[in-house]
Amino acid sequence: MMTKLISIATTGLFLTITWGGLSSVKEPTKLPIISPQPDPKAESIKRGKLIYDELCMTCHLPSGEGVAPTFPPLAGSDYLMKNLTESIRGIKYGQKGKITVNGKTYDGNMPSMGLNDKEVADVTNYILNTWGNTYKGIITAQQVANIKKQ
Ligand code: HEC
Repeated sequence: MMTKLISIATTGLFLTITWGGLSSVKEPTKLPIISPQPDPKAESIKRGKLIYDELCMTCHLPSGEGVAPTFPPLAGSDYLMKNLTESIRGIKYGQKGKITVNGKTYDGNMPSMGLNDKEVADVTNYILNTWGNTYKGIITAQQVANIKKQ
């Protein structure tokens, strides 16, 4: 009480205001440091987008709709979802010959792009989870490694 009176007397308003603050100063609350949990699927999709933009977009287009009758669509592709192993094999080693995507026949040639297993997994996770495509699981480099050329 003494201090308060002196404060008011000497410096007036400023200290009077800080009084209330000072009396209630507490130890700063220490919040637990929560490091963001890495999400392997989200990270893979992010890397996959870079690969897609660089290598795949020219043929399959930015929105994944392809260019019928030459380049099949990836967005909403029934082929991709129903023939996942075949699709990954195609991305990994290249693919040619007749396939039917969403009721349309394609008979083209996709060159091998020389991606490693991790890159193939990343770009596959990207196309499986973009443009409205959804896939519950995650494609791993190990899964890609197990897919051999036919
Ligand atoms: C030079 C053009 C070209 C590039 C570049 C290309 N593709 Fe393809 N892609 C094709 C063609 C053509 C087919 C159909 C091949 C066939 O007829 O057998 C195809 C087929 C596919 C299929 C299976 C069919 C479907 O529509 O679901 C997938 C999946 C695919 N491509 C993904 C990719 C990914 C991912 C990349 C990049 C890493 C890529 N493509 C780059 C031309 C290309």
